[in-house]
Amino acid sequence: MKPLTITSRLEIYDSTEELNEDVQDLMKQAFDARDNAYAPYSKFQVGAAILMENGEVVIGSNQENASYPSGLCAERTAIYFAGARYPNEKIKKIAISAKSLNHKVVTPIPPCGACRQAIAEYEVKQQDAIAIYFMGESGKVVKSDSIKDLLPLIFDNSCL
Ligand code: THU
Repeated sequence: MKPLTITSRLEIYDSTEELNEDVQDLMKQAFDARDNAYAPYSKFQVGAAILMENGEVVIGSNQENASYPSGLCAERTAIYFAGARYPNEKIKKIAISAKSLNHKVVTPIPPCGACRQAIAEYEVKQQDAIAIYFMGESGKVVKSDSIKDLLPLIFDNSCL
């Protein structure tokens, strides 16, 4: 037996004010995208804003369904739209913000496992890292330089 230690590097910002202006602007678009969430069941509204290499921003929000598993998270709604709209453009950054209609979300809300897997697919496809910023509705912001820091041991096309 040989132990394997996996390390991840994340950056923690005390608030959006500590972010560069372009990222603040992207996060603001994630805030706005939250308002388009269709979340009548969970009352948990998530917004994602994706900056493409051509400067375009693609937004997404969670879309729920009475048949619960048919709903989709904000991050996947956004990244699949980005792939569909700009298939040949690289994804540079993703900003994610979550808010609840039931309580104040002040802790950073990371993308779920399925969304990490979806982000990983595009990072592998474009062979270039995607920076991910996530937060609640206020408070600290977490940044990872690459999905690899959030999803070690990625299952990708090299596994097939
Ligand atoms: N949700 C997201 O949009 N992104 C995540 O990464 C985690 C969860 C949504 C799915 C569902 O509509 C609601 O939040 C509660 O889980």
